Amino acid sequence: MIKLQIAVDGPASSGKSTVAKIVAQNLGIIYLDTGAMYRAATLVALQNKTEDPEKIIDVIKKKPIFFKNTADGQLVFLGTEDITKIIRTNEVTQNVSKISALSAVREFLVAEQQRIASEGGIIMDGRDIGTVVLPHADLKIFLVASVEERAARRYKENLEKNIPTDLEELKQEIEARDYKDSTRAVSPLKQADDAILLDSTGKTIAQVADFIEAKARELL
Ligand code: CDP
Ligand code: CDP
Repeated sequence: MIKLQIAVDGPASSGKSTVAKIVAQNLGIIYLDTGAMYRAATLVALQNKTEDPEKIIDVIKKKPIFFKNTADGQLVFLGTEDITKIIRTNEVTQNVSKISALSAVREFLVAEQQRIASEGGIIMDGRDIGTVVLPHADLKIFLVASVEERAARRYKENLEKNIPTDLEELKQEIEARDYKDSTRAVSPLKQADDAILLDSTGKTIAQVADFIEAKARELL
């Protein structure tokens, strides 16, 4: 059994979750989408009309966030509620950087992420995995791409899902979120000193996934 810990960090829509899922599948390790956990916490804040971290944490303790792997992909639950789709809405996206800047929320979710990581081989994607969650990860990747390409990729994805979007608005939303995520006081988005910088501009999903998998296999 592969026991590697792989951290994938980077700005919004750089392809982290897409490639992390492929690498997880190919190496037979767990994939953990930490962004989905912050999105779930944001949904709790919106549903309960609160920005009080203790209230948000209380709700999550009663209705835990968990993932279920199915033939249709990985589903996200909050207690018994399937929140896979609702956590990707604009309202959640526009509020997630604010909620993920709350240090008590982060402490709570990071502890949960570290508990899951202690169970075996894992690839996690997020903003602070290499710096805070798994500082001793075997492999750290900092995945970037130009903002134009990231917005264009998201635009194409939305078109395929029949979600109407404006390319310029998408670009602005991505830039605004990157700015907030990189400048917050607690665990900002930052490349770890020992992370490999991987620029995926102009690269296919397969090229990026193959690179990470090859680096991981060098460590086996
Ligand atoms: O997939 P996308 O790039 O839209 O973002 P995500 O990975 O779903 O993360 C959503 C938001 O959660 C980010 O913009 C961050 O504000 C926050 N996040 C974080 O603070 N720390 C993490 N480890 C992961 C996500
Ligand atoms: O997780 P993160 O927000 O970093 O990005 P993602 O949701 O994995 O990827 C955003 C979009 O870019 C998806 O539609 C991917 O299929 C696409 N993508 C791509 O076209 N080329 C890559 N090299 C990586 C991702």
